[in-house]
Amino acid sequence: MKEWMDAIVKPAAGPGLELRRVPVPVPGPGEVLIKIHKTAICGTDVHIYNWDPWAEQHITHPPMTIGHEYVGEIAQLGAGVTGLEIGQRVSGEGHITCHHCRNCHTGNIQWCRNTTSVGVDRDGAFAEYVCIPATNVIMIDPSLPEDVVAFFDAVGNATHTALMWNLVGEDVLITGAGPIGIIAAGICKYAGARRVVITDMNEYRLDLARKMGVDAAVNVSKENLEDVMHGQGLVEGFDVGLEMSGSAPAFRQMCSVMRNGGKISLLGLGKSTVEVDMNDIICKGLTLQGIYGRKMDNWHQMSYMVQGGLDLTPVITHRFRYTDFEKGFEAMNSGKSGKVILDWTK
Ligand SMILES: NC(=O)c1ccc[n+]([C@@H]2O[C@H](COP(=O)([O-])OP(=O)(O)OC[C@H]3O[C@@H](n4cnc5c(N)ncnc54)[C@H](O)[C@@H]3O)[C@@H](O)[C@H]2O)c1
Ligand SMILES: [Zn+2]
Ligand SMILES: [Zn+2]
Repeated sequence: MKEWMDAIVKPAAGPGLELRRVPVPVPGPGEVLIKIHKTAICGTDVHIYNWDPWAEQHITHPPMTIGHEYVGEIAQLGAGVTGLEIGQRVSGEGHITCHHCRNCHTGNIQWCRNTTSVGVDRDGAFAEYVCIPATNVIMIDPSLPEDVVAFFDAVGNATHTALMWNLVGEDVLITGAGPIGIIAAGICKYAGARRVVITDMNEYRLDLARKMGVDAAVNVSKENLEDVMHGQGLVEGFDVGLEMSGSAPAFRQMCSVMRNGGKISLLGLGKSTVEVDMNDIICKGLTLQGIYGRKMDNWHQMSYMVQGGLDLTPVITHRFRYTDFEKGFEAMNSGKSGKVILDWTK
């Protein structure tokens, strides 16, 4: 095992990232060392790269390696790890949970009160190796394409948000055609929704959503959503809403076009508080569900959906060698990108 590796590091409080030589982590008892094949850039990584207020608040101990969306293989097992083997293809659940709180005890690890995050609170996966607890290792079937598994973390957010409700024969509105909104659109179509309508103001991303097979991709800065809705044959409004923009106007618009009794799951994290007409929610009898992270079962669900034919490749827009990571972050910041993959094998 080599002692030093390349890693994409936040060197100090402030904008930017650096490719550095750092020591290869040594797996302690109960930990697993993973050799990285491919990683994907997430919105969180862009916050950290740009050093916005969120990053300033959450990245408290630079220098550190960032990144949490990855696929690789097991390189080394710490003492006491059983049931896993060197060479197995794996990814990892990025939330490290306490195993002892009430939610951990009931299998709802997504609500653990003591959660910490790979690539935010501890060294991440934008490196040749990452070390995580064995309980966070996710086995990945060799039939799954590595380019897609690289961003399974984000697919998990989309799966969690979309599969919260019955989708068969339902009409779904997704606000926000970012990578996660586009992935969710693919999942909703795969899961049997009748109509899937997605909104954004970014034409590049609306086009990606069209490639994912949405029934309508609506530019809300130019088009009237209600006209589109009626054109799609919706009479009473949307049955299911997936809020994936973090934008207050998008959430208000969603509430206004939901059917009475409609169900909304909320993934988008906003920059500020949201003012909303409570009468809309109360009189329509809407159900709202906040979504954080992903459930462990979502890892199984997304693997099986991809094996069953769900094609998520339309959301991949850029691929770079990891040494060109700056180009990847530029693409993400330009708004003209879906998922950006960094290859660590070459
Ligand atoms: N809850 C969680 O655990 C969790 C996990 C991951 C991401 N997130 C959040 O989920 C959201 C989606 O993630 P992403 O990476 O795809 O984000 P993203 O920022 O890339 O995409 C959001 C999209 O919403 C669009 N948008 C802005 N205002 C809009 C409006 N009024 N109507 C329609 N669209 C509008 C933007 O143009 C953008 O394309 C983000 O808010 C992110 O912070 C939450
Ligand atoms: Zn992510
Ligand atoms: Zn817990």
